[in-house]
Amino acid sequence: MKPNIGISDKNRKAVSAILADLLADEVALYVATRGAHWNVVGPNFGALHSFFESQYEALDDILDDVAERIRALGFTAPASVAAYAKAKSIDDSAGDAGSASAMIEKLLAAHEVIVRELRSNAEKAGECGDEGSADFLVGLMESHEKMAWMLRSHLE
Ligand SMILES: [Fe+2]
Repeated sequence: MKPNIGISDKNRKAVSAILADLLADEVALYVATRGAHWNVVGPNFGALHSFFESQYEALDDILDDVAERIRALGFTAPASVAAYAKAKSIDDSAGDAGSASAMIEKLLAAHEVIVRELRSNAEKAGECGDEGSADFLVGLMESHEKMAWMLRSHLE
């Protein structure tokens, strides 16, 4: 059944497309962060292993919220690795980066890409008359800004 929530079909579709691209990046960043959790080595292993775990758990919650918002707008959430691989726009190779600092640099860069995308996409959602998605995207932007700060702090 089609949602009757005061947003035109065209705009619901446009916002869902934004969310589908975001979902691909959230899943890619989840996988990359989980890879860092698995493969990190060095004198700070214990702390970093736990730190990456806390970050991928936060990303797991985020990607679930993104997929379920697509459903709330009346569309199907992309649900295959192939779809995510095609749509993702971040470098998700942090788990293969070797040193802990290289992993952190790659994860940080990916968060910052997502923050920049969220900043412009929140505005686009607002222009589509979807204030709910605009607010949701701003909240996600703040979450990624906080995760980026925690990663950045390891490099200073
Ligand atoms: Fe684990």
